[in-house]
Amino acid sequence: MKYDIAVLKGDGIGPEIVAETQKCLDGIARRFGHEFAYREALIGGAAIDACGIPLPQETIETCRACDSIILGAVGGPKWDGLPAEIRPEKGLLGIRKELGLFVNLRPAKLHAALADACPLKPERITNGLDLVVCRELTGDVYFGAKYRDEDGAGHDDMNYSIAEVERIAHRAFRMARQRRRHVTSVDKANVLETSRVWRETVQRVSLEYPDVAVDYLYVDNAAMQLVRNPRQFDVIVTSNIFGDILSDEASQITGSIGMLPSASLAEGNFGMYEPVHGSAPDIAGKDKANPMATILSAAMMLRYTFGLGAEADAIENAVKSVLDQGYRTPDLYAGQGTQVGTAQMGDLIAAAI
Ligand code: IPM
Ligand code: MG
Repeated sequence: MKYDIAVLKGDGIGPEIVAETQKCLDGIARRFGHEFAYREALIGGAAIDACGIPLPQETIETCRACDSIILGAVGGPKWDGLPAEIRPEKGLLGIRKELGLFVNLRPAKLHAALADACPLKPERITNGLDLVVCRELTGDVYFGAKYRDEDGAGHDDMNYSIAEVERIAHRAFRMARQRRRHVTSVDKANVLETSRVWRETVQRVSLEYPDVAVDYLYVDNAAMQLVRNPRQFDVIVTSNIFGDILSDEASQITGSIGMLPSASLAEGNFGMYEPVHGSAPDIAGKDKANPMATILSAAMMLRYTFGLGAEADAIENAVKSVLDQGYRTPDLYAGQGTQVGTAQMGDLIAAAI
């Protein structure tokens, strides 16, 4: 099969990690007889430099014309002084909204070979750590009205419609059915009206999934439980802002944010795939970045958008075998094994495929 993939390299280490990901996808194409055609487009600071705005219309059109999207990372100190409307981040928020990417899956999984990197006590992670944050991505306080009134006070409206909560809740329950059949819904229903809508809606949707266990936590408690006993979680479903915060926390308990992929999905199978980490401008262009989060994001793309499970497994197994052989990028290197750069890590994984 031939697949068209929009490639948004973005800023900082984005171009390097995406290049290694393409190497691995080309390995998959050779081994399984597929064809991946890449169509590059600009986003973030790179787009601001080239055309003055973080999300050119042409980029949106390229993405719409493709079967899926791979994104590197956006942002950097170079663009920090710009007004909110044209900051690189606006490109990311814009593309999520434009393409209706309403669910963001951020798995936090501890690789056995990297168990030492976990900052939690070993007894808290015996039997590993494997949860997924299912974050709503196109609603909430992120997209409500933003303004300042005459007194100079700032306002960000927080909104959730029942329909927005329903569709993410269904996604979370369906995801749980492919895992350990347990959903934890996280909100702040003791304080926020949006959260009360959230909770009531999740409760109603849950009735359609009697085979999935569900519980409800307030976000402050959930933040605490994530470090106290992270193994209690399977699928965490939550709103945009809470998911932003909890997914960063979840990523840290694996100890290796350089390993974590993510998928942002629309209705149907279309999706945008990107690493959880940012653009790391301090190490950009130095062959130090860990490409594995982006490579594993490509595996999620193969699985969720293209329905190519065996191909996705091939990438994940290749990453595992390279880690098991002791190869480490600088972010993972702790004095043992062999330290390698971005490009060599990509070569090793592509060869293992
Ligand atoms: C993320 C990021 C973005 C967000 C920023 C860069 C706008 O933190 O993807 O988690 O807040 O969603
Ligand atoms: Mg974030």
